[in-house]
Amino acid sequence: MQITLTRPDDWHVHLRDGQALATTVPHTARQFARAIVMPNLRPPVTTVALAAEYRARIVAHLPRDTRFEALMTLYLTDGTPPEEIRRAADSGFVHAVKLYPAGATTHSDAGVTDLQRCAATLDAMAELGVPLLVHGEVTDPEVDVFDRESVFIERILQPLLSRHPGLRVVLEHITTSDAVDFVAACGPEVAATITAHHLLYNRNAIFAGGVRAHYYCLPVLKRESHRRALLRAASSGSPKFFLGTDSAPHARKTKEAACGCAGCYTAYAALELYAEAFASVTALDRLEAFASFHGADFYRLPRNTDQVTIERSDWQAPESYDYLATESLVPLRAGEWLRWKMLG
Ligand code: DOR
Ligand code: ZN
Repeated sequence: MQITLTRPDDWHVHLRDGQALATTVPHTARQFARAIVMPNLRPPVTTVALAAEYRARIVAHLPRDTRFEALMTLYLTDGTPPEEIRRAADSGFVHAVKLYPAGATTHSDAGVTDLQRCAATLDAMAELGVPLLVHGEVTDPEVDVFDRESVFIERILQPLLSRHPGLRVVLEHITTSDAVDFVAACGPEVAATITAHHLLYNRNAIFAGGVRAHYYCLPVLKRESHRRALLRAASSGSPKFFLGTDSAPHARKTKEAACGCAGCYTAYAALELYAEAFASVTALDRLEAFASFHGADFYRLPRNTDQVTIERSDWQAPESYDYLATESLVPLRAGEWLRWKMLG
């Protein structure tokens, strides 16, 4: 069986920088026409000038004859001035601003400590229609790790939307039925991305026979009822939910460590993994809208016009990819079987 669909876009990806781009850029550009590139580098991408330089480094790693557009984002800090938002809106290549609550995840130490400090900047974003992309987890160590998303919605996101009506928000990589319900109940200015790994796995995967480092990401995988809610949302046809892999590479030794990094690497077979998830609920006919239409519509960009084909055939994922010259990168599903294959 083969399925042909409009070429998809990835509305949330980590490409990293330097030598990592030699691995990540060809993988993402093979599947996707465009990708929203996360700015959590060290130092973070906080200005349009830095985003322009980062974009050039990405473009330099594109394989010959590959058409791919890196849609850049800025990393919001307590000190991001409203003028930077105006520069972003005028740039034509910066498409959003990312909120990492300080301390929430990988390279988030420069993130926002108190959103009230960003009020003027958020007003400029609302006025200019620049979306705020939200890592939706509280950082309060008293809050249970599995509750951090739902507590964020209640304590931070709901008040934020009340203070800034009209602000366009994408709640990134949602993991709970609470997030699904919240986003569904908001107006069209609020949407969400969903990863392939949160559609395919529940939290048992992290502990199957021992600690499985490669299934550890943030927000952490949740219980089965939440996975089911995400599958329903992704395949519902609602334009509020769209594809964002959150593919997040880390060198093998930094994942398989006493204190391992958070992130699943899925870019090498992203569409295949999403196809498997949609097939599991006999919703393959809904995959194209989720993967190729809803995100472009939310970002007010044209839908892609070329197509990709995936085929129902088993193939084995590699054990690892070369990464950072001397490191290796273990993808999600390493050495295991995948059920769909993208042609070409
Ligand atoms: O699992 C994750 N990895 N979640 C994030 O929020 C960040 C990402 C990364 O950059 O490694
Ligand atoms: Zn991410």
